[in-house]
Amino acid sequence: MKNRADLSVIILAAGKGKRMKSDRPKVLFDLAGWSLVRHVAQTAGSLKPGRLVAVVGHGREGVRDALADTPAEIAVQREQKGTGHAVRSAARLLKGKTRTVVVLLGDVPLLRASTLSRLVNTHRRRHAAATILTADAPDPRGYGRILRDARGNITAIREEKDATSAERAVTEVNTGIMCFEADLLWPALHRLKGDNAQGELYLTDVPGLLIAKGEKVAAVKAEEFRDVQGVNSLADLAETAAVARARILAEHMERGVRIVDPSTTWIDRGVRIRPGATIFPFTVITGAVDIGAGCEVGPFTHLRTGAVLKKGAQVGNFVEVKKTVVGEGTKAKHLSYLGDAVIGRKTNIGCGTITANYDGKAKHRTTIGDGVHVGSGTVFVAPLKVGDGVVTGAGAVVLAGQDVKDGETVVGVPARVLPTGKEKR
Ligand code: UD1
Ligand code: CA
Repeated sequence: MKNRADLSVIILAAGKGKRMKSDRPKVLFDLAGWSLVRHVAQTAGSLKPGRLVAVVGHGREGVRDALADTPAEIAVQREQKGTGHAVRSAARLLKGKTRTVVVLLGDVPLLRASTLSRLVNTHRRRHAAATILTADAPDPRGYGRILRDARGNITAIREEKDATSAERAVTEVNTGIMCFEADLLWPALHRLKGDNAQGELYLTDVPGLLIAKGEKVAAVKAEEFRDVQGVNSLADLAETAAVARARILAEHMERGVRIVDPSTTWIDRGVRIRPGATIFPFTVITGAVDIGAGCEVGPFTHLRTGAVLKKGAQVGNFVEVKKTVVGEGTKAKHLSYLGDAVIGRKTNIGCGTITANYDGKAKHRTTIGDGVHVGSGTVFVAPLKVGDGVVTGAGAVVLAGQDVKDGETVVGVPARVLPTGKEKR
């Protein structure tokens, strides 16, 4: 699909997130391997907007970096004077360049592309000036409430801190996600007043201003509250992360990856697993990891970024793999650390094998060939190359630079080459 030139998305990501009790900007907290704001940018991309603008402020360099591999343009909100003020900060980039503006919040990471497209479609179909994505919240505390008249038409959004107790009893909440006709939005932003409990310019006052001018404000309700839950506290973060993980696992299973126990399996966003692989319980897979067909991972395995398991490889109990290629049919079943290594095909990595990749200053590589038999408790001190068909004795410590040639057997500490039968004679 071509980008929709008449549609733009603004992501609000300038706030500090006081309720997180942390110096880190809230939208940079990790959720299943991606920052909150990156999840939002990804979902925004599903609309194929002509322009995508992220409003940054608190910790702006970090937020900008987190969006570096997305098409987002950056607008800076120097002082955080509220969500309405934040949208105003993006106006300079968009005025006169777009017909419809969708506002997303950087702290609502689980929004589904399908919900977002339903919002935009309804907005267009109903020729609304603004369309609000609402939700029925089991516990509406902290959210703006949707106020409707006797006929069910929206009259206003009331922030909790400004609400009467009767208004607080309303359980339909503002998700913060809205769609506007740009030529009505920009002037309305300039009519916002900070005459509220927080002294901020609320974006949530814009629908009321439009209604007062006789414009139509529509609403779309999200199917599930948890899809539009905001992350305001570390407890919210943990809750939404659990939902994100469950979704990721469901997607893998749908594609033919067997996940034996989803409740004890953690797989980040962005991990690639070919159908036909099996993931056993208590497995954690983080970062950019690629797992081939027929692989077996776990139980109790940690695969970290840069781990590549070729077809049919098996990695098992208490094995950690980082930036390492494990070749086709190769096995590392017990108690190993494999880091910064390339391991060939049909090699057996014995129990307790370690690639000692770090000398206290820098990381070094280990290369291990095909059909190698690594004895239990072998330590490979990198940098090091081990040829095809090599055998190492149990407990061997192969020192840095002491490359082992094809077919050799090495034993001991430090490892020495065992003479072959031929040489003895
Ligand atoms: C906001 C809504 C509330 C809604 C809720 C949904 C307003 C006034 N309130 O409340 O009705 O129910 O979201 O989750 O809009 N931000 C900026 N600049 C600012 C202030 C905020 O960029 O000056 C960004 C934040 O980084 C955050 C988002 O806007 O990503 C929402 O801000 P937050 O302070 O979390 O608003 P809520 O109190 O949750
Ligand atoms: Ca929020």
